[in-house]
Amino acid sequence: MIGSEWWRNATVYQIYPLSFADADGDGVGDLRGIIDHLRHLAGETHSLGVDAIWLSPIYRSPMVDFGYDVADHCAVDPRFGTLHDADDLIEQAHSRGLRVLLDLVPNHTSDEHEWFRRARTARADRYRDWYVWADPAPDGGPPNNWLSAFERVGRAWTFDEPTGQYYLHSYTPQQPDLNWRNPAVRAAMHDVMRFWLDRGVDGFRVDAPHRLGKDELLRDNAPDVVNLRVATQLDERRHRNIDDPVVHTFLREMRAVTDSYPDRVLIGEVGVHHPVRRRDYFGAGDELRMVFDFGFWSNPWRADAFRRSGAEQAAVIVAGGWPTHALSNHDLSRHASRYADPAVADARATARARAAAVLLTTLPGTTFLYYGEEIGMTDVPVPDDFATDPDGREPERTPMQWDFTLPHGGFSAVTPWLPMPAAGPDVRSQSADPGSLLSLYRDLLRLRRTHPCLRSPEYADLDAGPDVYAFRRTDRLVVAINFADASRPAAIAPESGIADATVALSSGVRLPGAIVDLSELVLEPDEALVLDVTG
Ligand code: GLC
Repeated sequence: MIGSEWWRNATVYQIYPLSFADADGDGVGDLRGIIDHLRHLAGETHSLGVDAIWLSPIYRSPMVDFGYDVADHCAVDPRFGTLHDADDLIEQAHSRGLRVLLDLVPNHTSDEHEWFRRARTARADRYRDWYVWADPAPDGGPPNNWLSAFERVGRAWTFDEPTGQYYLHSYTPQQPDLNWRNPAVRAAMHDVMRFWLDRGVDGFRVDAPHRLGKDELLRDNAPDVVNLRVATQLDERRHRNIDDPVVHTFLREMRAVTDSYPDRVLIGEVGVHHPVRRRDYFGAGDELRMVFDFGFWSNPWRADAFRRSGAEQAAVIVAGGWPTHALSNHDLSRHASRYADPAVADARATARARAAAVLLTTLPGTTFLYYGEEIGMTDVPVPDDFATDPDGREPERTPMQWDFTLPHGGFSAVTPWLPMPAAGPDVRSQSADPGSLLSLYRDLLRLRRTHPCLRSPEYADLDAGPDVYAFRRTDRLVVAINFADASRPAAIAPESGIADATVALSSGVRLPGAIVDLSELVLEPDEALVLDVTG
């Protein structure tokens, strides 16, 4: 797999290091724990078979935003281990053919970062202009009406008493925004990138890049512009605190840094909801290689919604970008919970998770899986006394469920930092069960790695009737997914001109190799099929 543009068609597995595996017995996950479990991911017959891992932040951090508040970009947080452990993880992952991506958090630092500590000492300090400072409004209030991305935080400004100015924070007050218009900040962040690229990391997931560009004059947003998370697509054009065109200069510079190393990649969490505006972040092929698709994971469980996403993603390819598919991450309710209909039984929720696995792995582009998704982990309710996240995201961040025959699900020898259920899906039981979700993911990822049609960008959507999303991958494979909770005919044959097909893979009970007559195909509720139509 080592070769250029390895990231196209790759499957990337997101590890949330606090919750993956605790090797040192303090209730919190760590890098040694990740190393101990690499075999789950790649390199062995029973491995899941992913191509890369992306680690949410591992840097020294006071953990107000659980690592997205970085106090030292060039040190590993002691909770996770040491720099030596990071080197070892990179080496051991590579020896299994796994690439390693780190989370790069360029928009802000922790307020405990040396740069900010210095910046807040005096207006004349040489680090002052590394952050965004402004005088109070005439009434003494914040300089403008910008809001934090976290609704609980409210205003994006905090007054710093000793120096008499406000500083900007797009997230919590403990995460001051860096001033990217200052070339010294950009040079420092490029050094951070080189520090890790030199250690062998294969690229970065860039946190919130759209926030690097803000109105230079710090003008107010229109009074009706509300929190970005609930903004409509049209509202975004009027948000002056994000997506200023200057961001593209910054991203081109970052890209030049990664391009000075072979085969490195930048993926951006571009929180711009308008699909066409998101495409701007590919630049002229000289900015981000990929951006996350906020539209895809925001879709309701409906065929027409995903068909629309498929069309948008095809347009991304035409525009010279590259699509991504993800349904879960550390900021979202897990899709096994989100798409579970409380009115239907567990078996149906499982059927949906299985159909979602097919959807995620058969469209053209790069797939991102979130740890635990491969066994169908659901959100875990977290009592208030555990909940300290500024945005209430604990339920989707609970410990990985390795083995419920062991204490604490095999995650840790001691009580974990977040609660976990006493029973539920786990890797141990699913690993040995050919009918499990984990086995389905393994089969799908094997097909994805080996089938030439799934490695080609070719895609065409097929009209297969209501509730069914069907598409072709070249002229040889057809994927058909029934999103309804009842059987549906999938009338594909007139489109394709092909009568018979062979089941390559099924999320339901059909066996691979079975022949189906496309003119009479009826899909079970939430059934997904990958069909070979070679004829
Ligand atoms: C991104 C991260 C999120 C974090 C925020 C601030 O959205 O995914 O977890 O809270 O940026 O860094």
